[in-house]
Amino acid sequence: MVETNLAGLRLKNPVMSASGTFGYGKEFAEFFDLSLMGAVVCKTITLKQREGNKPPRVADFEYGMLNSIGLENKGVEYFIQTALPFLKDFDTKCIVSIAGGGAADYAELAKILDGQSGVHAIEVNLSCPNVVHGTAKGLFSQCAQTSGAIISEVRKNISKPIFAKLSAMANDITQTAKACEAAGADGLTLINTLPAMMVDLQTRKPMLGNIFGGLSGGAIKPVALKIVWDCYRAVKIPIIGSGGIMNATDALEFVLCGASAVQVGSVNFVNPMACKEIALGVEEYFKANKITDISQLRGQLKI
Ligand SMILES: Cc1cc2nc3c(=O)[nH]c(=O)nc-3n(C[C@H](O)[C@H](O)[C@H](O)COP(=O)(O)O)c2cc1C
Repeated sequence: MVETNLAGLRLKNPVMSASGTFGYGKEFAEFFDLSLMGAVVCKTITLKQREGNKPPRVADFEYGMLNSIGLENKGVEYFIQTALPFLKDFDTKCIVSIAGGGAADYAELAKILDGQSGVHAIEVNLSCPNVVHGTAKGLFSQCAQTSGAIISEVRKNISKPIFAKLSAMANDITQTAKACEAAGADGLTLINTLPAMMVDLQTRKPMLGNIFGGLSGGAIKPVALKIVWDCYRAVKIPIIGSGGIMNATDALEFVLCGASAVQVGSVNFVNPMACKEIALGVEEYFKANKITDISQLRGQLKI
């Protein structure tokens, strides 16, 4: 196995699930041994329970999918009582994704999770397109200053690694990436879904109850690769690539563009074995190409 090191957090392989597409792992453990994964990234949690958006919340199309789940979750206490004990049984890392209405919420949530032995790192979701953050419409990660301020508050409260999850929606995402790095983020997850909508000509209605949602799947891979490549050259902290990874080749392309690890998202809904297959496929490629350290491929794009 070729391991990867994310600012001190050692993963046995670079493949993890993407938040919100793998629940808390339980359903997928019926299909394969989660210990095969570098990490499980849990669905985003908030301090208190959230209802989520009006249905329908998902729509498929040829090149990907839209979702407007709206961060539905049962809150941090439920997570600690039920999801976390289950994941402790597996030899994998648990990364918990968090969201809130502002820096204080994020910091409080991170502090609670920092005290939990089964939590190995925190992913700070600054980029959910399905909720209105604070007083402004838009994503936290669209503003470098706000993103930096949130990461800085979270950093003050915890000792575990922090990964900032950003969107491609920004004038210059490298500014947000640098602000997060300066504020103490240990890594970046790039990218979240892209704000999007789909409509039905026959009914003349939007496909989602919330009208808008987040675009994911194959359609966003080229966008995600560019953001990873841009940020790889702008920051020193490790990057976790996410966006349209359907197979091992896609995952390896992200590493070539600078990712130290990857997240597998929408494909989990069509193939519950995808994380296992991608982890094994990446391993096979490393073996066949005599790669013993991920740095032999990471960022090695020939330009
Ligand atoms: C149904 C669904 C729910 C999602 N929920 C979350 C979430 O709770 N938190 C988050 O940070 N990202 C969430 N995402 C975004 C994914 O984690 C991932 O970043 C994105 O889908 C791009 O990867 P993909 O193209 O492989 O799906 C969600 C995506 C989908 C499709």
